[in-house]
Amino acid sequence: MKAATIVSAIVLLGQLVQGSPQTASSTSKYLKKEDPIAVQHVLDNIGPNLGAKAGIVVASPSTEDPNYFYTWTRDGALTMKSLVERLVAENDVSLIPTIENYIKVQLTLQHIDNLSGNFSDLSGLGEPKFMVNATEFTGDWGRPQRDGQCPALRATALVAYGKYAQKHNNKKFVTESLWPVLQNDLDYVTKYWNLTGFDLWEETSGSSFFTISASHRALFEGSAFASSLDHSKSSYLTQAKNILCYLQSFWDSDANVIDADIANGKLLRQLDSGTTVGIIHGFDPEAGCDGTTFQPCSDRALAHHYALVNSFRNYYPVNNGKASNEAVALGRYIHDVYYDGNPWYLTTLAAAEQLYDAIYVWNKQGRLEVTTISKSFFNQFGSFSVGTYKSSSSTYKKIISAVSTYADGFVDMVAKYTPADGRLHEQFSGWNGTSVSAKDLTWSYASLMTAKAARDGKVPDSWGAKKVSAPKGKCSPGPVHVVSNDIISVKFVATDSELTGFGSTSIYVVGSIPELGSWSTSAAILLQGEPDTYGVYSATIKLPPSTSFEYKYIEKLDCPQAAVTWENYPGGGNREGKTPASGSLTLPTATFEHSDS
Ligand code: NOJ
Ligand code: NOJ
Repeated sequence: MKAATIVSAIVLLGQLVQGSPQTASSTSKYLKKEDPIAVQHVLDNIGPNLGAKAGIVVASPSTEDPNYFYTWTRDGALTMKSLVERLVAENDVSLIPTIENYIKVQLTLQHIDNLSGNFSDLSGLGEPKFMVNATEFTGDWGRPQRDGQCPALRATALVAYGKYAQKHNNKKFVTESLWPVLQNDLDYVTKYWNLTGFDLWEETSGSSFFTISASHRALFEGSAFASSLDHSKSSYLTQAKNILCYLQSFWDSDANVIDADIANGKLLRQLDSGTTVGIIHGFDPEAGCDGTTFQPCSDRALAHHYALVNSFRNYYPVNNGKASNEAVALGRYIHDVYYDGNPWYLTTLAAAEQLYDAIYVWNKQGRLEVTTISKSFFNQFGSFSVGTYKSSSSTYKKIISAVSTYADGFVDMVAKYTPADGRLHEQFSGWNGTSVSAKDLTWSYASLMTAKAARDGKVPDSWGAKKVSAPKGKCSPGPVHVVSNDIISVKFVATDSELTGFGSTSIYVVGSIPELGSWSTSAAILLQGEPDTYGVYSATIKLPPSTSFEYKYIEKLDCPQAAVTWENYPGGGNREGKTPASGSLTLPTATFEHSDS
C-alpha cells in the first residue's frame, strides 16, 4: 500500500471513531442503559435515603463545593413530575409510596415560617429551599421567590398524581392528603404570580417566561382539577387568563425569539435554556402546535430553539467542528459564570426533548407547518418554503428524519460526556467534557428520564391546553418589578454642635424596624461626621421600598460603657419616615437636643 493511501485510511478511521455522527441505534442504546441508572439515582436521592425525611427530594448528595444537600421546591417538583409520568406510562406502581410520601411532607414544608414569609398569608411558600429534615433553611439566598414558580411546578406534579389516583380508586388520598397541599399552591399562585421574583436559576430578579408559563399551566389545570373535587374557585381561572395574556409579552416578534427575562417591559435576557425547560414543562400532546401556550412544535418555540442553539455554537470547545445543523452541548445561557458556565446535562437534554415532543405531535396530526417564524429552524435541514406538509409528502419525511437525527444529536452529546459509571453531575466541562459541580444531581437524572420517554412517544397527559383561547384586548397589568427588596437608600442626618468629633460620645439612630435595630440601642446605627460640614453627622442605609418606620437619635458614650442619652424630640413621640416606592430618601436634618437640657 502506498503511504498516501495508508494516511487517508488512517484519517478516515479517525473520523469514524471521532467525528462521525452516532446512529439512532446508538442513541437508543445509551438511553436504554442510562434510564434505569437514572431512576435508581433519583430514588437514592429521596428520603428516607441519605438520612432525609421520607419523601424529601434531595437536590444532590453533594455537601460541599457546592453544597446541594437541601431540598429545592423546584427540583423536587420537576423530579416528582417525571416519576408520576413514569408511573402512568409504565404502570410502575412501585413508585407510589415515594410519590405519596413526597406529597405528605410538602404539607409540612408549606407550614414552616421562614425568611420568605409565613404560612398564614402563604408568603412562606415562596421560600426556594429547605433542610433535608424538613426544617427551615436560614442562610442567605435569592429570596423571596414570591412569583409562584415553585408552588406552580409542585401544583402540576400534584395534579398529575391526583388524576392518576382518582382513576385508580384512591380518592381518599386525593381528598385527605393531596388536595390540602394543592390548594395552598393554587392559592399562592393566584395571590402572588403578579409579583416579580428570581428566575429558575435563582439569579435574575424580574419576570421570566419559565415562571409565567408554569404559573399559567398550574392555575389552568388546577382550576379544572379543583372543580372535579367540588373545590372550584373562580379566581383560579380568572388569574390563569390574566397570566396567559401576560405570557404573550415574552414573544419578541422583532427578534423572532422568546425573551427569557423581562422587568417593567425592559429586556433582561433574551436567550436562555430555562425557556426550553419551560416549553417542555408546558407540553400538552393534544394541543397541536399552538403558539399561545408555546407548544414545543409551535413556530415560536422552534424559533427559540434555533436561536438558543446557535448562541452556543462554537461557544464551548466541545462544540467546535460541528456542522451548522448538528446538535451541540448547551449551558444555561451564554456568559454564565456559575462553576465556569459549562454545558448542563439537563439543558442539553431539554433541547432534545422539545424536538421529540414536536415530532410526536406532527406525526399525530399527520402534518407540519413551516411559517415565516419557524422557517429559520427548518431551513437548517434544507430549503423549505412556507407552507403545510402532509405526512404522505416526501418533504415531510425528509424533515422528520432530519429533526429526529438532530434531536438525537443532543442526547449523543450527553452520552459522549457521561462517565462510564453512568453518573450525571450538574454540568460537564465545555473544555474537556469531565464532570463538574454537584454530583448525582437529581434533576439531571429526571431530565434524562423524561427525554427518553418523549423519544419513545410516551407523552404526559393533556393538561387541557387546547381549550385555552388566545387572549383578546388589553391584559390586566403584569408584574411591576421592584428592582430589589432592599434598594432604597435612606440618609439620616443630624447636627450636634456639642459633639466635636474628638470627644467620647457618638450619635446614632435607632428605630422600629430590624434595619434600625428594632429599638435596641446596642443595635443602633452610628452616624459619621460629614467630611466638609462641621457638626453634621449622617448614615446611609438600605431599606425596602414603601416601608414606614419610626426612629430617634441617641448619643452613646464611646467608653467605657455605652451609656445612652435619647434625644429630646419635641412632643415626646418618635420621628416617622416612609421609604418611597423607588428612588432614595433623605430625612430632614435633625438637631440633637439633649433630653437633660
Ligand atoms: C446558587 C444558585 O443555585 C445558582 O443558580 C446560582 O448560579 C449561584 N448561586 C450563583 O448565583
Ligand atoms: C442551581 C440551579 O440554577 C437551580 O435551578 C437549582 O434549583 C439548584 N442549583 C439546585 O439544583
